Amino acid sequence: MRDNVVRDLERARARTLHLTDLDDPTLLAQHDPLMSPLVWDLAHIGQQEELWLLRGGDPAAPGMLPPEVDLLYDAFKHKRADRPALPLLPPVEARAYDHEVRGRVLDLLERTSDDDLFTAGMVVQHEQQHDETMLATLQLRQGPPVLIGRRKLPEGRPVAGDRVFVPGGEFILGVDATSEPFSLDNERPAHRVDVPPFWIGRVPVTSRQWSEFIVDGGYRRRDLWSARGWAHRAEAGLERPMFWAADGTRRRFGVQEEVPPDEPVQHVCYFEAEAFAAWAGARLPTEAEWEKACAWDPVARARRAWPWGSAPPTADRANLGGDGLRPAPAGAYPGGASAYGAEQMIGDVWEWTSSDFTPWPGFTPMIYRRYSEPFFGGDYKVLRGGSWAVDPSTIRPSFRNWDHPIRRQIFTGVRLAWDAEGA
Ligand code: AVJ
Ligand code: FE
Repeated sequence: MRDNVVRDLERARARTLHLTDLDDPTLLAQHDPLMSPLVWDLAHIGQQEELWLLRGGDPAAPGMLPPEVDLLYDAFKHKRADRPALPLLPPVEARAYDHEVRGRVLDLLERTSDDDLFTAGMVVQHEQQHDETMLATLQLRQGPPVLIGRRKLPEGRPVAGDRVFVPGGEFILGVDATSEPFSLDNERPAHRVDVPPFWIGRVPVTSRQWSEFIVDGGYRRRDLWSARGWAHRAEAGLERPMFWAADGTRRRFGVQEEVPPDEPVQHVCYFEAEAFAAWAGARLPTEAEWEKACAWDPVARARRAWPWGSAPPTADRANLGGDGLRPAPAGAYPGGASAYGAEQMIGDVWEWTSSDFTPWPGFTPMIYRRYSEPFFGGDYKVLRGGSWAVDPSTIRPSFRNWDHPIRRQIFTGVRLAWDAEGA
């Protein structure tokens, strides 16, 4: 277990250094008001690692940075839009600080008990989440590309039928430390939930389907949108997914290219997802439906660690890790199917659910108390399954992400669901 955590820490750091191997102006600039300058993420990664592993989570405990510098990296103190104006550590100093923290952490992990490894696993996931955030920043950035896809993705295939059936009945929602030692607080505890029968999309909604929605007037038909969604559509001037142009091309990491029709659609907000689902005669899945379709094994009457079973993700089962710089086409992972036959639930695109972000009954905050709790009950919708930009260490069928329903700079897509009347 310790060796795995150390390996995951090292993989996270290699990725962080790769994503920030950029000139200083690119690291210092704010590429979009929604995002921090990359150099903030870079030092925040080390500052959080120091806080949780070297300072016992106590911000008053003496740290390696002067207190006023340490405070610059407290996400609750400074809004993202305000971060470029802060006297942040320059890139060289941020890298040196991260390196220094990591050296001390590796020394500590030599001596720590297996029980204490949870916090180190949490720190891995925090760094990997910021790596995904930095990819979203680099996607927003204007100008010639600085990243190239380093992973060849499998071909898609036509799938048999657009949906799979999930019979009604109880399943176990959420996980415990015994089965998932690195699950975060909001994924716990495991508890029984009864889910009525439903159908769920076999694969995520593709860009071809989204183009049909546009051509059919999806963005002009008020009846398809919720009241809030329609108001937002008008105010934000939504006409197509973010980064798409009117001529059928899109910008992806600085490259203008044809929209690939078989790729899962990305960069749509919750309100667009809802309208698309209404147009398609469907709805969005609830979190419980999504997790059952992903992880429940109805024959064994038990959860699986992954949709396909217990083996960890590999390149033939899921598109994870970020090197592809894009989702794989629909049907690319027949070997990644869940017990019910749903594919591409892990990786490719985050999938909007209709659920608000709320705690499971019996929720207990982890050492990083403000990871989940301040966001429960806020204006957030839950996203499931992870995107192509997510590292395998930072996704599980129980993993819960959340964001405001208007956000679309993250790597979000849609999977449809349908009621099963009288089934
Ligand atoms: C779980 C992705 C919503 O980025 O706001 C990173 C993750 N929390 N640092 C976020 C997070 C603190 C979080 N999300
Ligand atoms: Fe953070």
